[in-house]
Amino acid sequence: MSIRPLRKAVLPVAGLGTRFLPATKAIPKEMLPVVDKPLIQYAVDEARAAGIEQFCMVTGRGKTALIDHFDIAFELESTLASRHKDDALEMLRSERMEPGSITTVRQQVPLGLGHAIWCARVFIGDDPFAILLPDDLVLSKTPCLQQLADAYRETGGNVVAVENVPREHVSRYGVLKTGAEHGNLVEVLGLVEKPKPEVAPSTLSIIGRYVLLPEVVNYLARMDRGAGGEVQLTDAMAKMVGHAPFHGLKFEGRRFDCGDKAGYLEAQLAFALARPDLGSSVRNFLKAYADA
Ligand code: UTP
Repeated sequence: MSIRPLRKAVLPVAGLGTRFLPATKAIPKEMLPVVDKPLIQYAVDEARAAGIEQFCMVTGRGKTALIDHFDIAFELESTLASRHKDDALEMLRSERMEPGSITTVRQQVPLGLGHAIWCARVFIGDDPFAILLPDDLVLSKTPCLQQLADAYRETGGNVVAVENVPREHVSRYGVLKTGAEHGNLVEVLGLVEKPKPEVAPSTLSIIGRYVLLPEVVNYLARMDRGAGGEVQLTDAMAKMVGHAPFHGLKFEGRRFDCGDKAGYLEAQLAFALARPDLGSSVRNFLKAYADA
């Protein structure tokens, strides 16, 4: 079996971000910074590190800042150049996207994550693709999507990043019915979106990183409504089980749910502590707060 190369990523960013109101009234949730970089930039950097070359952002109303973020800021760059702010200029230039590598489609109504992915169907075409939900951040030695891409190359099928969550939290996630385990890979026998804790088939839950075969779009096209009345990606993925290899990858790293206030604050601290330029000063002030 020849394994098709993984070059595409879909970034769904059309959600309303209600948990971060009023911050997200005029700016998209995905533009919220962790330390000094917006969430969307972390997702794109992680994907590029995993060999992704083509991006599709699924946007909605009020999301133009996300599109502008990936444009070249000519005036800013020439001002930085004239003021000899070489480091800042170099940083901006190093993050430039290849011309034509990022496209956007509009999800006119936020009908759910599955519907958002379906909106990218023309971009996806017949190719395998990654999905990154920018509000999930992963701090790891090997970028999380790279770990998934390696697993995809090994299995040739669908791979989702999973972690065990407390049983009382499973109703926030897509949850695996698990089969055989080989190292970090867990065979997926079934998937259920937002199960009640007492009926969840396991506590192994999907975080916002996926590598999927394009056939998922055919199942999404049925527009079946699932949990919360939304078109759920998990439900479409569940229909692929048995037709193609499907695995959960227990990724290495710590994941932060930045769509949640406490998770976002924790990510700020964890990412700042991991930075050579900030780690020790943050550690010192945290100690001072803890001792107070
Ligand atoms: P969330 O469940 O976090 O929803 O979506 P949200 O709207 O962003 O945030 P809250 O719950 O109102 O605070 C998970 C991901 O799916 C995208 C979101 O942008 C986010 O990346 N999404 C969700 C869409 O693109 N379209 C949708 O219809 C729903």
